[in-house]
Amino acid sequence: MNQNPIIEKLGRRLRLAVIGGGSGSFIGAMHRQAAVLDGRYDIVAGALSSRPEKARSDGRRIGLPEDRIYEDAMKLIRSESERPDGAEVIAIMTPNDSHFQYAAAALDSGRDVICDKPMTNTMEDAEALYKKVRETGLVFCLTHNYSGYPMVRQARAMVRDGFLGSVRLIQVEYVQGGKADENDPDPTGHDIPWRYDPVRGGPSLVMGDIGTHAHHLIRYITGLEVTELSAEIGAIVPGRKTHDFAGALLRFDNGARGCFWVTQAAAGVENSLRIRISGTAGTVEWDQEIPQRLEYKPLAGPSELRTPNGPGILPLAKRASRIVAGHPEGFHEAFANIYSDAAEAIVARRTGTEADVLSTTFPTVFDGLMGVRFVHDVIRSSEEAGRWVSCVTGTAKD
Ligand SMILES: NC(=O)c1ccc[n+]([C@@H]2O[C@H](COP(=O)([O-])OP(=O)(O)OC[C@H]3O[C@@H](n4cnc5c(N)ncnc54)[C@H](O)[C@@H]3O)[C@@H](O)[C@H]2O)c1
Repeated sequence: MNQNPIIEKLGRRLRLAVIGGGSGSFIGAMHRQAAVLDGRYDIVAGALSSRPEKARSDGRRIGLPEDRIYEDAMKLIRSESERPDGAEVIAIMTPNDSHFQYAAAALDSGRDVICDKPMTNTMEDAEALYKKVRETGLVFCLTHNYSGYPMVRQARAMVRDGFLGSVRLIQVEYVQGGKADENDPDPTGHDIPWRYDPVRGGPSLVMGDIGTHAHHLIRYITGLEVTELSAEIGAIVPGRKTHDFAGALLRFDNGARGCFWVTQAAAGVENSLRIRISGTAGTVEWDQEIPQRLEYKPLAGPSELRTPNGPGILPLAKRASRIVAGHPEGFHEAFANIYSDAAEAIVARRTGTEADVLSTTFPTVFDGLMGVRFVHDVIRSSEEAGRWVSCVTGTAKD
């Protein structure tokens, strides 16, 4: 990340507008910090809240000029597309049910889009967004930020370079404890938080919050697609109506087998996203809570460690590592890698140039579509008592 192809090619930073992410939101600040970390975007406009007074005070708090603070996201998209100095990229970090509307409007106005996951709540919206991105040719980046970690990229590169041989087994878990307390049941009433409302949060709380991240991590590292699955999804905490766990056995398009386990009801666990991938020649293991370590266990040799910018680092991971070995990088930097890669694609599109091939692995609208399909396939299987169901796969060129 030493060079800045955005400045080199465009002569300035990209102009970014943010929708959502007002005070109190966890992910809003991450988006804004990720956007500016590598000097590739200026945040020029925002509609940070659906509540007008809060949108205004939050916009002031992050230093936006008065005339670029919007009280309505659709107005932001319209007004910014009419200004000669308007935002070229729209970043969406609102509750799940609004991703489609804002992303579609932004694409219709010719803006490139960076959107948080899950891409949409419904299959229809996911398919429509996929079609729209294909038709417009605009860039759509989905912030599956865990794929921005240098050691996740190292794992991907090692799979591709044959360190594992043929992938046979995949285990992924995303385990949290935030919803483990039986004395803290789901909120009820008219004014429930959006996550607990199936219309706003989507068909499954746990799958929308963390399941799609785990699914994408498998696909990102291995390049494999789930072709069949047998799943159970539900609530483990008594009295809970929303899903707080999901488990599935997976079959992949190369014959590999996998195990997927996600929950937010594991008492005391913080953010345990872990993956183990075993092939005919070795295994890699990564744990999000110690993200600078990737363990490689070859079939015929002692275990080895890979670290950001450490010995044995491959170009894809090196490009994602900012500082010398031994200096930890984490969540912010991984998130910034996604933003920075998207910037390269956006500027390449705008200038008719080629993006660095190592910048092209960021999650796209196709990954979003596959994530939404996976959520629905897991629910479908569980509703049929764990029956093995075929998943709708497909390639990015469909
Ligand atoms: N990538 C990740 O690791 C990650 C982590 C957490 C959340 N998320 C995703 O980010 C999104 C937001 O989650 P959150 O936890 O920050 O939610 P949140 O409820 O904490 O914050 C949502 C923010 O959006 C604002 N908002 C709501 N409706 C709006 C509208 N119509 N226009 C403008 N602003 C609006 C709210 O005022 C609030 O500031 C969700 O899609 C969620 O799945 C992603």
